[in-house]
Amino acid sequence: MNPSNHADALGRLEDLPADYIADMTALSIAPLWPQLRGLLPRGKPARSTQPFVWHYQDVRPQLMRAGELTPIEKAERRVLVLCNPGHGIEKLVATPTIYVGMQLILPGEVAPNHRHTPSAVRFVVEGEGGFTTVQGEKCPMHKGDLILTPAGLWHEHGHEGTGPVVWLDALDLPMVYSMEASYAIEGPSQNAGPDLDASQTKYRRAGLVPFGSKISVLFSVRRSMP
Ligand SMILES: [Fe+2]
Repeated sequence: MNPSNHADALGRLEDLPADYIADMTALSIAPLWPQLRGLLPRGKPARSTQPFVWHYQDVRPQLMRAGELTPIEKAERRVLVLCNPGHGIEKLVATPTIYVGMQLILPGEVAPNHRHTPSAVRFVVEGEGGFTTVQGEKCPMHKGDLILTPAGLWHEHGHEGTGPVVWLDALDLPMVYSMEASYAIEGPSQNAGPDLDASQTKYRRAGLVPFGSKISVLFSVRRSMP
């Protein structure tokens, strides 16, 4: 018998006597062989994840409607999750390990302060006047910005502008959840001050400023001279 035929011949659960299955179930025991091919597919992984494109022109109207239907107090985070059709709507995943959602915040709203075990990255898609405060640092949100929220850091969102602000959230939430390590803690608002963000100040060195810095390079070079 070649290896392939041998694998095809693996026994099924229904081949076993019902009383034997019942006895094992009562003891929280299960035979491996009926499920072996599912756990260890031959030759290549079995994937449920499907290639899929969500067009912003389709998602945006639904997100705006969420803004009309659900106040921020009823949502905490007003997010529509991009659910990979290969995994279904219920799992709320884009891939087995990554969650992706589109988040809307309207003028004057606050998405309250919290921190959690999953890490997040955010790409700002639309709008002006939004901000995310991460561990005491207020990060203005402009279209195209990337804002990081590493695991365990406090973060909250607000909006001081006039129109809707939308960004894309991506978290390793499904992976952390699968490890039974996913949880969040709520806290009081961080009340970040008006200071320049740390990328403009904390990492500035003689003659070196971050790209696009609000502080002129000339100013920094002069200050670095003896
Ligand atoms: Fe969060």
